[in-house]
Amino acid sequence: MRKPFVAGNWKMNLTKAEAVALASGLAAKAGAFGSTEVGVIPAFVHIDCVAAAVKGSPVGVGAQDMYFEKGGAFTGEVCASMLTDLAVKYVLVGHSERRHVIGETDALLNKKLHAVINAGLVAILCVGEKIEERKANKTFDVCKTQLVEGLKGLDKSKAGQLVIAYEPVWAIGTGLNATKEQAQEVHAFIRGELAKIFDAATAAGIRIQYGGSVKASNAAELMSQPDVDGALVGGASLKVDEFMGIITAAAAAKK
Ligand code: PGA
Repeated sequence: MRKPFVAGNWKMNLTKAEAVALASGLAAKAGAFGSTEVGVIPAFVHIDCVAAAVKGSPVGVGAQDMYFEKGGAFTGEVCASMLTDLAVKYVLVGHSERRHVIGETDALLNKKLHAVINAGLVAILCVGEKIEERKANKTFDVCKTQLVEGLKGLDKSKAGQLVIAYEPVWAIGTGLNATKEQAQEVHAFIRGELAKIFDAATAAGIRIQYGGSVKASNAAELMSQPDVDGALVGGASLKVDEFMGIITAAAAAKK
C-alpha cells in the first residue's frame, strides 16, 4: 500500500511572517494527518524559518527548484548541499511554471533530478500536458516524453526517492480540475510507463500525486482513484483549514 502524500507548493507567495504562521498552524494540526505524509514547499528564502516552525512535527519541508551543480559561480542558483543543510526532504523538478514560464528543458530537468537524488533527497518530478496538447490527443505522448527524458539514467534502486506529480497545465491555478476519471486514466498510464522504465514491482511502489486546482471540496473524489496517491496543491495549500481538508480526504480514501 502506497502511503498517501500531500504537498503544498507555496510558489512565490507569502511574507516571512505569513509563511511561519501557516507552517505553525499546520504543524499544530498534525494529530489529524492520519496516514497522510504532509509536506510544505515554501520559497527558498522562507525554507529556514518554515523548517524551524515545523521542527519536531511530521511536516516535511521541500524546495521548489534546485540547480544541478554542486556549488560555485552560478549566480542566483541554489545547490543540494544548501538545501540538505536546511533539513529539506523534497525538491520539485520540472513544475510546469519552470517548464513553460522559465523555459526549462527535459535535458536540464534530467540533470536536476539526478542531482536531487544523488544528494539523498526526494525528487517530485512534475509532468503534464497543456490544453492544446490534450485537445490534440497528445496527453499520453507528452507525459511519456517528460517521464522518459526526465528519468533517463535513473536506476530502479533509487525509485524510493522518486515521486511523480501529474499536473495538467490547464488545471493549474484555473479552478478547473481534472475529473477523477481523467486523473485516473493518466495516472494509470504513467504507472504503466514507469513499469516499462523500471519494472512492474518498482512502478507499483512509486507514488503519483495529482495536481491542478485540488481543493478540500474535490479532494475526496480525486483521492478515491486507485492510482492517485496524493496531491500537489498550490492555491489551496495557503490556508490551513483548506489544506487540512485535502490531507484528511487523502487519509480517509487510502485507509
Ligand atoms: P493549484 O496549483 O493547486 O493552485 O492549481 C497546483 C500546482 O501548481 O502545483
